[in-house]
Amino acid sequence: MHDSFRESARIEQMFSSIAPHYDFLNRLLSLGRDRYWRSFAVGKLPPIEKGVFLDVATGTGDVAIEIARRYPEGVRIIGVDISGRMIELGREKVKRVGYLDRIELREGDVNLLPFKDAEFDAALIAFGIRNVRDYEHAIKEMARVVKKGGCVIILEFTSLRHPFIIPYRCYVTRLLPVIGEVISGRRGAYRYLPDSMKDFPDPEALKLIMQKAGLRDVRYYTLTFGITAVHVGVKK
Ligand SMILES: C[S@@+](CC[C@H](N)C(=O)[O-])C[C@H]1O[C@@H](n2cnc3c(N)ncnc32)[C@H](O)[C@@H]1O
Repeated sequence: MHDSFRESARIEQMFSSIAPHYDFLNRLLSLGRDRYWRSFAVGKLPPIEKGVFLDVATGTGDVAIEIARRYPEGVRIIGVDISGRMIELGREKVKRVGYLDRIELREGDVNLLPFKDAEFDAALIAFGIRNVRDYEHAIKEMARVVKKGGCVIILEFTSLRHPFIIPYRCYVTRLLPVIGEVISGRRGAYRYLPDSMKDFPDPEALKLIMQKAGLRDVRYYTLTFGITAVHVGVKK
């Protein structure tokens, strides 16, 4: 417990330190694909007129904003993130795009979500799950706060090695840490991305973890030659 607290504190500090450059670097480092990947994941949410979705590890709120754009006014979104700085910047962005009445951003840890059971119609996490130590526990926690029959969606990088994306893998492991360091001025922060991608389970293994976490009908879609994958599971 103590170790995982220290680990969370380290990750919180790292993300807070890169937060001011996060959006810009996201576009650059994903070669502009990140918007499409988020939009695809949001497209797997159920079509509802009224309700609440949870965006876990919301960062600066891009997923929450995408949901607000695509859903009617009766749908609200709560975003949580462990980094206070990400939340601050996210709130400014939400205000700028005019969704303050529908999107609420709060600090919170996916390992212990500050919500009652079955509060949400669905929960989504984009590029956040690989930061946690115990994937199954985090997925269980997301499932806990979702209503029965609601879904849990995970968008994440994969460790797949399609021949088409070998140049992209080289870019991520060699060039990205250097570009990230120059722009953010933070040594090592962008080394973390390739390292955490390398250790992340492949899509089949993540599907099994989601099933073990108690989700049914788990399916996944690989995007952009397997650079990322979207997994969807339903709460029993
Ligand atoms: C790569 S960013 C993704 C942000 C956003 N979802 C997006 O699509 O741009 C990962 C985020 O996960 C957050 N994070 C890391 N560990 C977390 C945890 N245990 N609980 C909640 N958020 C966490 C970080 O602070 C960071 O904002």
